Amino acid sequence: MEQIRYPRIASFKSVESFLEHLHSLGLDLPVDRAMESAPASPLALPVMWRGNLIGNRFCILPMEGWDGTADGSPSEKTSRRWLRFGQSGAKLIWGGEATAVSRDGRANPRQLWIHKGNVKEFARLRAALVDGHRARFGTTADLLVGLQITHSGRFSRPESHDRPEPKILYHHPILDRRLSIPPGYPVLSDDEIRMIRDQFVEAARLARDAGFSFVDVKHCHGYLGHEFLSAFDRPGPYGGSFENRTRFLREVVEEIQTSIPDLNVAVRFSAFDLIPYQKAANGRGTPEPWDGLYQHGFGCDARDPLQPDLAEARKLIATLAELGVDLVCVSAGSPYYNPHVQRPALFPPSDGYDPPEDPLVGVARQLLATAELKRSHEGILIVGSAYSYLQEYLPHVAQAAVRHGWTDFVGLGRVALSYPGLPADLLEGRPVRTALLCRTFSDCTTAPRHGLPSGCYPLDDYYRKSPEAAQLREIKKLRASNR
Ligand SMILES: Cc1cc2nc3c(=O)[nH]c(=O)nc-3n(C[C@H](O)[C@H](O)[C@H](O)COP(=O)(O)O)c2cc1C
Ligand code: SF4
Repeated sequence: MEQIRYPRIASFKSVESFLEHLHSLGLDLPVDRAMESAPASPLALPVMWRGNLIGNRFCILPMEGWDGTADGSPSEKTSRRWLRFGQSGAKLIWGGEATAVSRDGRANPRQLWIHKGNVKEFARLRAALVDGHRARFGTTADLLVGLQITHSGRFSRPESHDRPEPKILYHHPILDRRLSIPPGYPVLSDDEIRMIRDQFVEAARLARDAGFSFVDVKHCHGYLGHEFLSAFDRPGPYGGSFENRTRFLREVVEEIQTSIPDLNVAVRFSAFDLIPYQKAANGRGTPEPWDGLYQHGFGCDARDPLQPDLAEARKLIATLAELGVDLVCVSAGSPYYNPHVQRPALFPPSDGYDPPEDPLVGVARQLLATAELKRSHEGILIVGSAYSYLQEYLPHVAQAAVRHGWTDFVGLGRVALSYPGLPADLLEGRPVRTALLCRTFSDCTTAPRHGLPSGCYPLDDYYRKSPEAAQLREIKKLRASNR
């Protein structure tokens, strides 16, 4: 069986050899040769946002743990993760993790869900993070903490991890087939959409009550918000034209601004999508076959659905700016149907495929798109994603990206699970602890696919020594023998 191997990042012994490899791939990323610590480092520069001081340029991206309680409240595991985010040294916490606005909008039965009955638990969760930050850094005056609110839409699984209960906005020819959605399956009605809009606003109000400074109205990764953006085929007020496809977002934002004026709003969105990928006979990812125009992806070139087209992403940021939303996090694709686009990895999750490209290509795709959006919207604060795969060279690219204005903030996803202290180590001038760098083994994605909590099983002892680790090993062994 053909298996293409890409060089591991750890195999590059210097910035020069990493750069050579980038160039051999035709990639031109900013890379600083020497690292600086605070206060000289561009990563240490504070930013003011709407009267809030954000003390440096590191942002912890939202990451679900599949470990909430049955009523959507945080568990001990959730608090531990948030505490570690607070101790990381990053001064912007983008939402902690996706928190559902309703029970049936949960992506899994352990997803957080904020409601009237558990606001105090959310306040305690936030306090765990903030207290951890204060204990480690002595102040929280320059720390900004938001909550990501979401509805899982097509990927809702509120009762069991293996029982999809999709809420769809339109029939997607490829994703419907994958999720066994029959042609007559009902799409959400306009009235149901308005009800969900109101649930977002209520969740925002509760987030404010729990002490969060902002909410992220999540529009990425294939979930409901993101699906609106590609609802080209949907008739009525929430589909078709750009104006209609962004109506839900505009309505939610405007309603929050009007009825909860002391809460700020931010948006994380998938700036581009690519056609869904599938696993080929040789194990590699390959695009689903498609003839003619592909008009089911936001920010996807309809004539060549393997290429981003950022025209609408630019328009979306301009629309948000008109609404007064000037803090945006750029992500891409979906972990369900093109994970190599969304979270570039050398080792695929159990429902994924071997990488169809050097994962650095996926990193560069997101960084370049973010830089282009930053260039065309100077006044908007932008958080970039997909840095974890850079590993030893993450600091070099991050510092250069901020220095050269490719992004305002460097978002950290998986590496914040394996090595939450990376920002503090860099800013305080300590060497990177390479043993803790995320090597993109994807266990944090594989575990929840099988109903287990997410976490860094290979590198974090808390998970490595947990009873679930043995279960995960069995699952992976079984899958390897079936390959
Ligand atoms: C286990 C796991 C859970 C995630 N959960 C969320 C989430 O709740 N909300 C979200 O917007 N992105 C989520 N993501 C995506 C990350 O925020 C991030 O975009 C992605 O991992 C790429 O960044 P990285 O290369 O630094 O990991 C998740 C990623 C992982 C690995
Ligand atoms: S399990 Fe750990 S090493 Fe693997 S991708 Fe997730 S954070 Fe990285």
